[in-house]
Order: sequence, then structure tokens, then C-alpha cells
Amino acid sequence: MLAALTLGWQAWSGTPYIRWNPAILAVAHFLTLGVLASAMLGAMMQILPVATHIHVLRPRITSAVVHACLTLGTLSLAIGFISVKAVFHTAAVVLLAAAFLLFLAAVAGGLWRDRRQRSPGSAEILVAVRLALAALATTIALGLFMAGLRGGVWSVGATPAGAWLHGLPDLHVLWGLAGWVGLLVIGISYQVIPIFQATEIYPKRITDILAPLVFLLLVVLTLSGAWQLSNSHAATLPQRLAGAALALCYLVYGLFTAWLLLTRKRPSPEPTTWFWHAAMASLVLAALVGLTRSGWPALAGHTQEMLLGTLLIPGFAVSAVNGMLYKIVPFLLWHNAQRRAPMALPFIPKVRQFISEPDAMRQFAAHLCALALLAAACFMPVLLLPAALALAASAGLLAWNILRALMLYTRTCRRIQETLAALPEQARQP
Ligand code: HEM
Repeated sequence: MLAALTLGWQAWSGTPYIRWNPAILAVAHFLTLGVLASAMLGAMMQILPVATHIHVLRPRITSAVVHACLTLGTLSLAIGFISVKAVFHTAAVVLLAAAFLLFLAAVAGGLWRDRRQRSPGSAEILVAVRLALAALATTIALGLFMAGLRGGVWSVGATPAGAWLHGLPDLHVLWGLAGWVGLLVIGISYQVIPIFQATEIYPKRITDILAPLVFLLLVVLTLSGAWQLSNSHAATLPQRLAGAALALCYLVYGLFTAWLLLTRKRPSPEPTTWFWHAAMASLVLAALVGLTRSGWPALAGHTQEMLLGTLLIPGFAVSAVNGMLYKIVPFLLWHNAQRRAPMALPFIPKVRQFISEPDAMRQFAAHLCALALLAAACFMPVLLLPAALALAASAGLLAWNILRALMLYTRTCRRIQETLAALPEQARQP
């Protein structure tokens, strides 16, 4: 919602719709840190124990501290971009460093402590998750360094080394989107798409090769300096080939996943299926834009950069996370309600009753509308205000759907308590 309101304000102010506009930098982090990081870090703490028998260290205190620091750090970073006040960047560095260091330590500690009890068949998901965590650490380190420069926490002085600085945002975005977000969605999808969407499983050829290959290409792009996208026409042929190969990897993954979804065993698509379709369509388009950048660098420009960011962040990543929320939230509420009742109670809602399909589809329609308008606004910035309004409607409907599910869960827990209180002592025992 904050991203939508900031985008609306930016459209109203008429300042240029380019990646360096402070309001756009704030929007980028409301979405990448505020939406993606909070959902993905939370989901990892839930999915890892179920999918791999690996438990994050001290989950209660870890999740509380990470949630608080991540939320306040994201707000501080965004206010820092818009107000250009160094104190907010400094606060963001402290809070976000605390959030990600604690999270990475708790997960790494769990991966090491439970390494011998990981579930069979979890290797492919764990390889992708570990690489995604390494990409996240790289993204965060670069982000904290840049925010520290803006906050005056440290400086590089007038050293010749400064010359490489101007390319850092590109490297930061490359590891953030093609590394962390891309690898985590790939890794998790190996399990959740076949399980929740009743599709065939991903072939071993893909699950063994794709994630390590993407990571290797990111390392090649980093070491060869090809990540300086803003002057990619200077990129040498090997660098452009590495960029094209990365785009091809995501094109293959996107097309293959789309095919799995179109040939799934359950005929009628459900809301999460539509969100996955939107995510894969955006990823395939982004990969094609990436290929044209590597093939015809002269075409690179603000419009193409904004289109790539729009297709990868709200298009691919937010669609995938939004869709998964409609699987994760009802399941967790149902699971926790069941755990509170030592016997079967008929009034406990089924998983499907926590968020109805029409409500989820209404939100999907608003999300799809926002995506189309955001993409079009890259070419016609006059469409930015309607795009911001559609994004706000989508955020509002998502919040309403989750709030109503939580209210149903709270009512159910109250009824379970009342029912148990009315039962004789020994009938309450599990
Ligand atoms: C600790 C967390 C983070 C911090 C402190 C941070 C900080 C920054 C800073 C300071 C910039 C502006 C670069 C400049 O000085 O011009 C920036 C740009 C950006 N960051 Fe982050 N960032 C963080 C995490 C992320 C993550 C996780 C993602 C994505 C997955 C991300 C995506 C972006 C994008 C898209 C831009 C825009 C730059 C461009 O258009 O090239 N950031 N970040």
C-alpha cells in the first residue's frame, strides 16, 4: 500500500519516472524489502521444517526481532531516499543489518545443526535455498554499503577506487533479483508447484543444473564487470554472452513452469494458479527484454530499465509471493486451529473456507490490472496514477482477505476454548 501511495504521489508530482528518482527507489524497497523480504523470510521459517526437517534456531525470538527490525529498517530506508536526510539512512543500516544478520545466522545455524536429519529428497530445494541465501547476503552487503555512503556512516574519499562505485546499484539489483528472488522462487517451486498445483515434478536435469548454473553466471557477470548495465554497450562479447545465458536460464525455467501449470492434473485453475501464470508470463517477458539488452545494447535506456524492474519485481516476484499467500495463510490458520482442539470439532473451518476463491480472484483481477498499467506506464508515464490506484486496490483487497481469515481464526479459537471449558476434565485430554 505504501508503494502504491508513493507511486501515486510521484505521478502527481510529475517528476521523471526513472530508476534514480528517490520516490522510485523508495517504491523499489517497499516492494523488495517490505513485501518480498518479509514474506519470503517468514515463509522460509515455516517451509524449511516442513520440506526439509531443518529448523531455524530460536524461531520465536528470531522471527519477532527480524520482523521488527526489517519493518522499521525498510520504512527508514524509504524515508531516507525521499527526505535525503542522512540520519534515516544510518538508522536503516543499523536496523536492516540487525534483521538480516540475525536471520542468516539463525538459518545457517539450523542448516548446520540439523544437517544429519534433513529429509530425503530435500537436496534439490536445499541447494537452491543455500545459493539464494548467499545471493541475499551479497545483495544486503552491497545495499548496506551504499546506504552507509548516503548516511555518511563511511565514505570512499576521492580514491580512484570510487570509479567502480557508480556501477554498484546495478550489481546490487542483479544479485537481489536474479540471485536471491529468482533462486528462492526456483527452489521453493520445485516442491510447492507439484504439491499445491498437482503438476508433474520438475525433471532432475533442471533441478540439478539450473540453480548452480544461475549462481555461476552471476559470479561470472560480477567478476567480469558486465553488471555495469548502464553502459552495457561497452560490455565485451563474453560479458554479453554471460548476460544472455542468464536470461536464457530464466526463459527456460519460466516456459517449463508455464507448461507444467498448463498440463496440471486438476483442470480448473484456482487463484494461486493464476498468480503463478502471471509470475511466469512476467518472467518470460523480462528474460526476453534481458536477451535484447545483451543482443542489442544500443536499445538500452530508461524505458527498458523501468520495464525490466516492473516485470521482475511486481510482475514476477510479487505475483509468486501473493499467490503463495493464498496457500500458506489458510493452511497455517487451519493447522493451528486443529492443534488447539484435542478432538475433531465440526465447526473448525476447512482450509478452503478461510479465504474464498471469489475474494482471492477479485484481488487477482486488481493485481493483474496494476501489472498491465505499470508496464504500460514505462512507455506512457501518464498511466502511472491509474497504475498506482490499481496497486492500492490490490493491496487493500489482499489486506481485507487476510484480515477476514484472521478474524475467522480468532472466532474459531474462542469457540474451541468455550467448547473445551464446557467439557468434563478427562474429555479435554488429547
Ligand atoms: C539491507 C537491505 C538493502 C539496503 C540497505 C539497500 C540499499 C539501497 C540503496 C542505498 C540503493 C540506491 C543506490 C544508489 O545509491 O544509487 C538501492 C537501490 C536499489 N535496491 Fe536496494 N537495498 C537493500 C536491499 C535490496 C533488496 C533485497 C533488493 C531486491 C531484491 C533491492 C533492490 C534495489 C533496487 C531495484 C534498487 C534501484 C537501483 C537501480 O535502479 O539500479 N535492494 N538499494
